[in-house]
Amino acid sequence: MSKILPVSELTEEDARNELSRLAKEILRANRLYHAEDAPELSDADFDALKRRNSEIEARFPALKRPDSPTDLVGAKVADGFAKVSHAVRMMSLGNGFDDTDIADFDRSIRKYLGLKDVAPLSYTAEPKIDGLSLSLRYEQGQLVQAATRGDGEVGENVTENARTVKDIPQKIDNAPDILEVRGEVYMSHSDFDDLNSRQAALGGKTFANPRNAAAGSLRQLDPAITKSRPLRFFAYAWGELSEPLAATQMAAIQRLRSFGFQTNALTSLCGSVSEMLEHYRAIEAQRSTLGYDIDGVVYKVDDLNLQARLGFRSTTPRWAIAHKFPAELAWTRLESIDIQVGRTGALSPVARLHPVTVGGVVVSNATLHNEDYIAGRDAKGGVIREGKDIRVGDWVQVYRAGDVIPKVADVDLSKRPDDSVPYTFPTRCPECQSDAIREDGDAVRRCTGGLICPAQAVEKLKHFVSRKAFDIEGLGAKQIEMFHNDPVLPIKTPADIFTLEQRDAGNLARLKNRDGWGETSASNLFAAINEKRTIELSRLLFALGIRHVGEVGARDLALHYLNWNAMARAIDAARPAALAQRRAEDAEEAERIAATEEGRRARVKEAREAAVVRNDVPDSAAAAWSDLIGVDGIGATLGLSLSDAFANGDERQAFDDLIGHLTILSPKAPASDSPVAGKTIVFTGTLEKMTRAEAKARAEALGAKVSGSVSQKTDLLVAGPGAGSKAKKAADLGIDTLDEDGWLQLIGDA
Ligand code: IVH
Repeated sequence: MSKILPVSELTEEDARNELSRLAKEILRANRLYHAEDAPELSDADFDALKRRNSEIEARFPALKRPDSPTDLVGAKVADGFAKVSHAVRMMSLGNGFDDTDIADFDRSIRKYLGLKDVAPLSYTAEPKIDGLSLSLRYEQGQLVQAATRGDGEVGENVTENARTVKDIPQKIDNAPDILEVRGEVYMSHSDFDDLNSRQAALGGKTFANPRNAAAGSLRQLDPAITKSRPLRFFAYAWGELSEPLAATQMAAIQRLRSFGFQTNALTSLCGSVSEMLEHYRAIEAQRSTLGYDIDGVVYKVDDLNLQARLGFRSTTPRWAIAHKFPAELAWTRLESIDIQVGRTGALSPVARLHPVTVGGVVVSNATLHNEDYIAGRDAKGGVIREGKDIRVGDWVQVYRAGDVIPKVADVDLSKRPDDSVPYTFPTRCPECQSDAIREDGDAVRRCTGGLICPAQAVEKLKHFVSRKAFDIEGLGAKQIEMFHNDPVLPIKTPADIFTLEQRDAGNLARLKNRDGWGETSASNLFAAINEKRTIELSRLLFALGIRHVGEVGARDLALHYLNWNAMARAIDAARPAALAQRRAEDAEEAERIAATEEGRRARVKEAREAAVVRNDVPDSAAAAWSDLIGVDGIGATLGLSLSDAFANGDERQAFDDLIGHLTILSPKAPASDSPVAGKTIVFTGTLEKMTRAEAKARAEALGAKVSGSVSQKTDLLVAGPGAGSKAKKAADLGIDTLDEDGWLQLIGDA
């Protein structure tokens, strides 16, 4: 072996080679130690390899490998697991609860694909395993990485743990060069019972159900512990592939089976909705004798070409649905009703229950939705629960479905105490005493306190640091609660997070000297905060917690405006038109209410006002407003909410303070090598080769924006037969126009 040079003497070339050698050696040593119980290196030698690897990485940070051993689970990263970006996003499933939902699912797929009701269309039906999903990456047949789902984009690296699971092959033959197998890690009932007895005998932690046991066992920092836990794995899907597995779902599952994976024997092919429902009932009938937990049946379009055409919504495939089993139920006493205030001011009633076991989990809280629900009405004033209201002291029926928060479904009037009184929903915020009001059409009563309401402020901050927002390691909901009321180092607004380190340095009482903190944890926190000073615009927008601005809306806004200042300017410019819109909506509402003789005078007055409003709105505002609400996916509701947030003094101040601390990245146009990336496209007329929905989804997948109306900003009009005014307008504006075949040619689908 060549002489080992000190790290300080390595050239870049040497360092790269060394890192590659070390990665292999460490991986091998890890596998021998953890998975095969046959170590070849002493602990000291193993540690020396890892130390050398870290030293080289410290000197040449740019050379750190994506599969660096520093990030391996076996290497016990200080707190938690290393993160892994999924090559293909891990999706979840839409849910259906009854037969009609499944018929609707079939109908919507046919509509999307433009298939007649009678056209043949097959689905697979298989049990929905109640475990946790795992993605296994094989390269040249070798298992190289295992990752949990995480938020779908980034999961945890649990490779070394997965290697200890018997159902997971380390090596497979005749597989595509790149193969990501996805499936469910679970624990059987008998293994779960044994594990809990063992744990109890050792005075250790017992688990509430097999799902928690499986998750707890896979997510162990020490793979030796995972190895001692009887985990199992069913394969049912895939991620990145270097070549297709098969032409159908059924054949692809068969392929996975031939690679040595366990696949579920209850998977069957159905030619119609009635066959799907029949299989659902057959699986449901066997549920209690399967020996492992399932919580429904998953249907998938069998033809993989059709799956590809159907594609995905933001987090779920259009081509699959989970048909859930009915939720489990239990009766218990409602001890009290608490009101929680959320980040948008929503007052949410929470039932405090006498603890009761529902489907293996002890439940002591459940949601009561809103005041109408408690009163026995739905949002439209219709009767629910035969109009029975819910009172403190009542016997109530509680249910939970999967991971969903428990709910109160019913009330037993025969057990109602004689002295019970109807529940009065508060009209003041219990946290800040501001008025809590309900706007027209809103099922929810909301605190009007805005940022002066401590509950709203704290919930907004929790949202700000949450996983899909700023995702600051070590600054979660618990820490936000602590810092929010901290007399020395308060975090009252998002900007305060980014001045934390500086403020701490200026204090006599330093964070590192506090109970529960130390030099390392304090400096780790500051480092984690600093890491997030650079942020994508869409994440930032989502993080602000503006009502109606979810992940998708934030992404659409970011793609449209590209940078913060342009967006803020546009929102400000649109303000007069936004206000006019609100007044027009109010006037319309008033008109509906005042459709009586005595309302006529009021109506005339409103109409006059609306006219004034219209005249008052400058053209530039009207243009900015229609540009904003014309962004696909952004409507007047979101637009108004955004406009209100930017026009609210406290909130705007908080935004302005915050962005001073940030470097904001413009969104990367997805699929930038496509000819339509970043272009705004309008479809009009009849499309013959695909439905409008499919065309839109396809264009978006290629990075285009799809708009409903032709304007100066339109880059391309795709016009089918029967195109009318839009085609004329496009011609007037000199906008490129293609027919459907031209469009398919352009995007390479012809
Ligand atoms: S297919 C793109 N099939 O259910 C669709 N998922 O609620 C990928 N699950 O995240 C999922 N059994 O963890 C599929 N037979 C099955 C499943 C299954 C359980 C889980 C999976 C998924 C979750 C969605």
